[in-house]
Amino acid sequence: MLLKELSSFASPLSQGQVEKLKQLTSELSAVQLAWVSGYLSATAEQGTGQVGVEAAAPAQTITILYGSQTGNGRGVANELAAKAKAQGYAVNLASMGEYKVRQLKQETLLLAVVSTHGEGEAPDDALELHKFLASKRAPNLENLHYSVLALGDSSYEFFCQTGKDFDERLSGLGAKAIQPLVECDVDYEEAAEQWQLDVLKGVKPLIQTSSASVVSIGSSASVGESQFTKQKPYTAELLVSQKLTGRDSDRDVRHVEIDLGESELSYQAGDALGVWFSNSAELVEEVLTKLSLDGDTEVTVAKGSLSLKQALIEKKELTQLYPGLVKGWAELSGDAELLKIVEDKELTRQFVLNHQLADLVAQYQVNITPVQLIELLRPITPRLYSIASSQSEVESEVHLTVALVEDERDGAARFGGASQFLAQAAEGAEVKVYVEPNNHFRLPENPDTPVIMVGPGTGVAPFRAFMQERAAQGVEGDSWLFFGNPHFEQDFLYQTEWQQYIKDGSLTRIDLAFSRDQAHKIYVQDRIAEQGQELWKWLEAGAHLYICGDAERMAKDVHQALLDVAVKFGGKTSDEADAFLEQLRTDKRYQKDVY
Ligand SMILES: Cc1cc2nc3c(=O)[nH]c(=O)nc-3n(C[C@H](O)[C@H](O)[C@H](O)COP(=O)(O)OP(=O)(O)OC[C@H]3O[C@@H](n4cnc5c(N)ncnc54)[C@H](O)[C@@H]3O)c2cc1C
Ligand SMILES: Cc1cc2nc3c(=O)[nH]c(=O)nc-3n(C[C@H](O)[C@H](O)[C@H](O)COP(=O)(O)O)c2cc1C
Repeated sequence: MLLKELSSFASPLSQGQVEKLKQLTSELSAVQLAWVSGYLSATAEQGTGQVGVEAAAPAQTITILYGSQTGNGRGVANELAAKAKAQGYAVNLASMGEYKVRQLKQETLLLAVVSTHGEGEAPDDALELHKFLASKRAPNLENLHYSVLALGDSSYEFFCQTGKDFDERLSGLGAKAIQPLVECDVDYEEAAEQWQLDVLKGVKPLIQTSSASVVSIGSSASVGESQFTKQKPYTAELLVSQKLTGRDSDRDVRHVEIDLGESELSYQAGDALGVWFSNSAELVEEVLTKLSLDGDTEVTVAKGSLSLKQALIEKKELTQLYPGLVKGWAELSGDAELLKIVEDKELTRQFVLNHQLADLVAQYQVNITPVQLIELLRPITPRLYSIASSQSEVESEVHLTVALVEDERDGAARFGGASQFLAQAAEGAEVKVYVEPNNHFRLPENPDTPVIMVGPGTGVAPFRAFMQERAAQGVEGDSWLFFGNPHFEQDFLYQTEWQQYIKDGSLTRIDLAFSRDQAHKIYVQDRIAEQGQELWKWLEAGAHLYICGDAERMAKDVHQALLDVAVKFGGKTSDEADAFLEQLRTDKRYQKDVY
């Protein structure tokens, strides 16, 4: 029980005792609280209030930290905390973003789960700790035993880089590894499970006394956690999948509405929705036919038996390749060209990005059995979509803005797995979903704080949620949207809604960049440059700045445009401009949701 709740319980303590207890506990860190909790329960068990502090050996706490952008690491850390607790250990579970770095030197047992994002960068919530460990302020950690689980994707150049950095930095500060670094690829579940078992075995001889309790700092770990998760999603009903782009647009962007029914799933503006999908039956048919395989053959997937066809539709990833699959295919086919590609990391990366299983099947002949195929393919993974609605407005619905990923190869159409599923789903179709909270993309607490939102393309989705939320709350603070897409007439997503917000004053400014409506291309970063002076004024007035959408180019170009604004209108040197944006980021005034 949290002590701050004491007064609301039928407490056996006097008001004076409650006050004293409150005062003491308000000064304690989470680790100290865990220790006090162990001490008090040991004291109570001995039936007297007279047990000396030294008589109750301190409960040594395992600190479990996660740095996680899209929830995988958070899930693993939560599982580890539950297992540790079940084994009777005192656990301090926290997001790295909520963790006080100065506490590090007091730690004796630290288990860290961290993913890598951007191009080898730390996830938002791990940025500060990552930086701190490399700084001169980092303490000597000779008393610390630790282990790091790194999550990543081997198709990226800097595979598991942040996990590697954490491992190296902790060890460089004198900490001793309980288990060597474990690097996990996209199908991380099994390796993560094994790591959990190994580290808990590893901490056993290091633990002194324990008392089972989990202290979690911040709201992201368990408070408000839904019963529906990535592993146990809610089966929702699709209400609408409506094309937002015009008939002549060269892209198909959908407005998707999903009914969360009686699930009581709740989300906040800024969160994402995880969507499980099934592969297209036509795609599966194409693969089976070209490989001369019988779709009715029984196969085993995750200890369950089903037909090969059903396994390919529901259980296996067909639209995303990974290096191991290309390597396996190269060996099976013996194709000299493909064998050469898999020897080179960068060539493999490019190949993975630009091909699908169906391309491998079409281009490189193999003799493969159903069992071999199933073993070579990865399990299907859900995709995340920034939520485009606020529950203050849509209640038990959730809205998304989904761009259909489509391409053509040798005359054959290729689609993205989840976006095709959502684009083609009929009204009433079942969709398995869960909410992925994003505490690093939140409206300012103070409603008077101005907000600047940069969201070209589908990046506009969370800003629709922001605006709905602000309108519902009657927020009067200034807001400014930068939106862009190829053509005004075809691609102005949610045009009438923005116009209405401008008209009723909820949206203060909108700047539009329709890149292909004139001879030279204009992007949101160009609009930012044009409006630099005004934008600088907003920043000086304390505005929070948000970027959502394409990570590969847009977010970088917008970042550069912001640096230029700081130089040109803020009178900063280029180093100072860097430091300025970094400070904004640390102060949570510069937040990104990019993919
Ligand atoms: C936090 C977060 C929020 C997101 N929010 C949104 C959102 O609001 N709206 C939205 O539409 N998407 C969003 N995405 C992206 C989304 O999760 C999927 O990655 C996207 O829909 C593609 O998935 P798919 O299954 O259709 O394609 P996949 O099956 O994953 O990919 C199929 C093939 O297309 C390639 N490919 C994938 N994406 C692209 C692309 N954009 N352009 C060209 N080729 C591509 C792949 O390399 C692969 O070869 C978000 C991602 C994250 C991490
Ligand atoms: C935009 C984006 C960039 C990524 N960049 C990298 C990378 O540079 N290196 C890497 O190993 N993995 C990269 N990944 C893969 C993630 O690390 C991987 O999906 C991980 O499981 C995510 O864990 P999380 O949900 O805890 O953040 C990237 C993923 C995304 C969505």
